Amino acid sequence: MQTLSNNELNEANIDWPVNMRRAIELACNVITATPNPRVGCVLVKDGVVIGEGWHAAAGEDHAEVMALNNAGERTHGATALVSLEPCSHTGRTGPCTDALLEAGVAEVVIAGIDPDPKVSGKGVATLEKAGIPVFHLVDLEATARAINSGYIKRQQLGLPYVCCKLAMSLDGRTALANGESKWISSAAARADVQKQRARSSAIVTGIGTVLADDPSLNLRPDELDLDTDSRAHNKISLARQPLRVVLDSQLRTPVASRIIAADGDVIIYTAKGGRKDQTFPDNVEVVKAANAAASVSLLSVLESLASKFACNEVLVEAGSILSSAFIQSGLVDELLVYIAPRLLGSDAKASFELTGLQSLADSIDFEIKDLGKVGKDIRVSLVPVSPADK
Ligand SMILES: NC(=O)c1ccc[n+]([C@@H]2O[C@H](COP(=O)([O-])OP(=O)(O)OC[C@H]3O[C@@H](n4cnc5c(N)ncnc54)[C@H](OP(=O)(O)O)[C@@H]3O)[C@@H](O)[C@H]2O)c1
Repeated sequence: MQTLSNNELNEANIDWPVNMRRAIELACNVITATPNPRVGCVLVKDGVVIGEGWHAAAGEDHAEVMALNNAGERTHGATALVSLEPCSHTGRTGPCTDALLEAGVAEVVIAGIDPDPKVSGKGVATLEKAGIPVFHLVDLEATARAINSGYIKRQQLGLPYVCCKLAMSLDGRTALANGESKWISSAAARADVQKQRARSSAIVTGIGTVLADDPSLNLRPDELDLDTDSRAHNKISLARQPLRVVLDSQLRTPVASRIIAADGDVIIYTAKGGRKDQTFPDNVEVVKAANAAASVSLLSVLESLASKFACNEVLVEAGSILSSAFIQSGLVDELLVYIAPRLLGSDAKASFELTGLQSLADSIDFEIKDLGKVGKDIRVSLVPVSPADK
């Protein structure tokens, strides 16, 4: 495989970056293909785009196959630009390398190697063995990787990408002293949270929130602010429910709670075995998460979500205790905060319960990745700064 930078391109392939950007844009059409990555593909022949595709959901055609079908009879001699290395194994669908070879494409350009050991390098090797040159357009690799942070992290580290969402008041309060927190943020912010749920393989909460709010934590596609095209592209993934996960060391989750009654599967991670008198319905699985202390081990929960349930992206929607525990354990990749322009007063519950911070040097620092307004609220996305970079 030849690695090429944009400045090494010549007249014959000068359009590759534009077409690869389009392939990445097509991959971004996909809200989630969990447990698979988001992938887009563009087929070009004689300087003209003849086919476009993306992988809409697990079990559906892969991006290359959709683009080949879209191009019809014209694929012989075409260039295929794919945002991720084509697969060479049979999963729920056949190998994309076979489809590309049968269609007679002349060359394949990728933005990155698939980190899945079942694919990694093997897709490229299969194509090259069949005499099809493969090029790695390296300048677009970071852009292509950014849309699959969860998939890449799961394949490389055995952990999902963790986004911790919090809604808070201007004075940093997450709920009134009596536990009431519905609704601190606006309807527009809640619709935005629905978008985050739609992207996620699992929604994680704590038993404190289940007992205080009895939330469903489900995906409600009607509340999503999506255009008609996006709804059509994501029909299958919007019909799915993300896994709902409760961290509940003593197994106190009420059998009659909304999270259990709503459609979809629920995993309850427990620590010590908890109550023995609970009989849950079939959509609930109780899993013991290895722990040294009394609480559920957050690391083993994440390892289990990645290995046992193939979760790429996880959204933590919990109260201050569990959210803070995730942050303090260094397990959060992104903090997503909705700040409502209202004051709840110092009797209300603080958004974070972080202990042991003695000096400014102990502060947990973040870098703002994105900042904007949603409805009448502020939406800020932050990434942790490692202590070494403070
Ligand atoms: N504003 C928001 O965005 C938002 C979102 C959700 C909830 N809330 C509000 O938050 C309040 C509930 O918050 P909360 O802090 O009491 O509950 P929580 O953070 O949802 O859950 C905390 C509980 O999780 C369990 N847990 C299991 N493993 C843990 C671990 N490793 N580390 C820490 N906790 C672990 C613990 O109970 P066990 O020891 O029994 O397992 C712990 O008490 C409610 O008033 C709710 O309305 C606000």
